[in-house]
Amino acid sequence: MAIRINTATFTGIEGVMVSVEVDISRGLPCFNIVGMGNIAVKESKERVRAAIINSDFEFPVGRIVVNLAPADLKKEGSLFDLPIAIGILLATKQIQILDIDEYVIMGELSLLGELRKIKGALSIVMEGIKKGKNNFIVPMENKDECSIIEQANIYPLENLKEVSYYLQYKDLIPYKRKYKVKNVNKYAVDFSEVIGQESAKRAVEIAAAGNHNIMLFGPPGTGKTMIAKRIPTILPDITYEESLECTKIYSVSGALKDTDGLITNRPFIDPHHTVSKIALVGGGINLMPGEISLAHNGVLFLDEILEFNKRVLESLRGPLEDRKIKISKASGSVEYPCNFMLVGSLNPCPCSKIPCECSEIEKKRYINKLSGPLLDRIDIYTSLRKLEYSNIKCRKKGESSKHIKKRIDLARNIQKDRFQNYNILTNGEMGSSLAMKYCNLTSKAEKFMENVYKKFNFSTRVYTKILKVSRTIADLDGREKIEESDLIEAIQYRRFLNNIV
Ligand SMILES: Nc1ncnc2c1ncn2[C@@H]1O[C@H](COP(=O)(O)OP(=O)(O)OP(=O)(O)O)[C@@H](O)[C@H]1O
Ligand SMILES: [Mg+2]
Repeated sequence: MAIRINTATFTGIEGVMVSVEVDISRGLPCFNIVGMGNIAVKESKERVRAAIINSDFEFPVGRIVVNLAPADLKKEGSLFDLPIAIGILLATKQIQILDIDEYVIMGELSLLGELRKIKGALSIVMEGIKKGKNNFIVPMENKDECSIIEQANIYPLENLKEVSYYLQYKDLIPYKRKYKVKNVNKYAVDFSEVIGQESAKRAVEIAAAGNHNIMLFGPPGTGKTMIAKRIPTILPDITYEESLECTKIYSVSGALKDTDGLITNRPFIDPHHTVSKIALVGGGINLMPGEISLAHNGVLFLDEILEFNKRVLESLRGPLEDRKIKISKASGSVEYPCNFMLVGSLNPCPCSKIPCECSEIEKKRYINKLSGPLLDRIDIYTSLRKLEYSNIKCRKKGESSKHIKKRIDLARNIQKDRFQNYNILTNGEMGSSLAMKYCNLTSKAEKFMENVYKKFNFSTRVYTKILKVSRTIADLDGREKIEESDLIEAIQYRRFLNNIV
């Protein structure tokens, strides 16, 4: 008799239901898994065999055929071990379960029959619920991420024996988290620790308010890294939907550690400058998400951006534009979201000394490493200076992250209302047509813009960026129309090493 068990896999960050069909018939002993599995699925045979025997069951002698349907779907990972093992035990009548169709079963088995953590469990549970399945057998270590979904009955178990016992005797109640999921914005750092650097702090506030990409430049030890690390503390709280989206990405990439199963803070990702292109944007044999997707809904911080490989930096162009990335290989293609705020830091010269010992040519060569197309995608440049002794001496604390965040929250709410009919939330995401529509200038500001446009010979790109940043400055002030002073400030943020870029 053929047995069918519900399980699932994932492509990208979306779950896909899969049926495991097991048929055992007489004949020469063999064990085949069909339905286009990857290497992990093939290795599954050995694990399932050992796990069944080591859990005090018998491994049948005969022709065992396991079909993973639909056959044309590329299937990842080892999470089919458990459904295959349960299918074999059912087909050989070693266990009897009448309502097996009510369950979605997933888990990797060790040779001893223990259940191991799997990737993508949250995506699978969400898909199962969509398809009308409410009961899930999952490895113990996946229990927290799975139990985020309140409609789901989660049965986290330790090993094959426990699973077979539970499915026959139903001796457990579903696992519930001890506490409700809520946002706990907890950061170990705060903006009040940053002394001075008021203009950089103001620029960062504008960048965070409008979700603009920002570059911090200045001599070593002035607080570039320090300020960048505090940006998540002033960003609006992550919403439940954003949280789920981030958690799915982390779950699929196996990065959900020490998080209670849910990402409750906006991510802050700071890859080392030796990062490879695949590690940054995603890909590899298993088409895994890269750092840019782990930074989704948060901040991607490229510290000392000029130290990164130029080719690696160039690979950010597409994702910065599209806010998602499609990775294609012969083995298939997947798409991951990557809507992040880019924060870069750089020293204006390679010597990193104060005072600088580089020649103008050396400086120029160094800065030129930053490719034009990437420069284009930065809205705000801000420079930090060495602190005066008087700043340090007075030890006055700066404004707290909580205070700054309040202003940012107000500006973000204005933007949310503005873009409710579009698929964006912030000024930073506006294309040029939206910028033309929503960046209304007062007549004085209009005249001013005309003058500077001609004087500095702005490109349309620079013009649009100035409009977008001015829009955010006016929003922070709660004003409908953009004024001359907003434009002047926004133009300041286009000054990069004495040029308007
Ligand atoms: N504005 C500041 N307020 C308080 N402390 C500061 C400030 N700037 C620097 N510091 C102190 O100096 C340390 C170094 O600062 P940080 O690493 O942010 O400098 P940086 O500009 O990133 O330098 P580098 O170019 O060498 O990376 C900080 O950890 C902090 O202790
Ligand atoms: Mg630094």
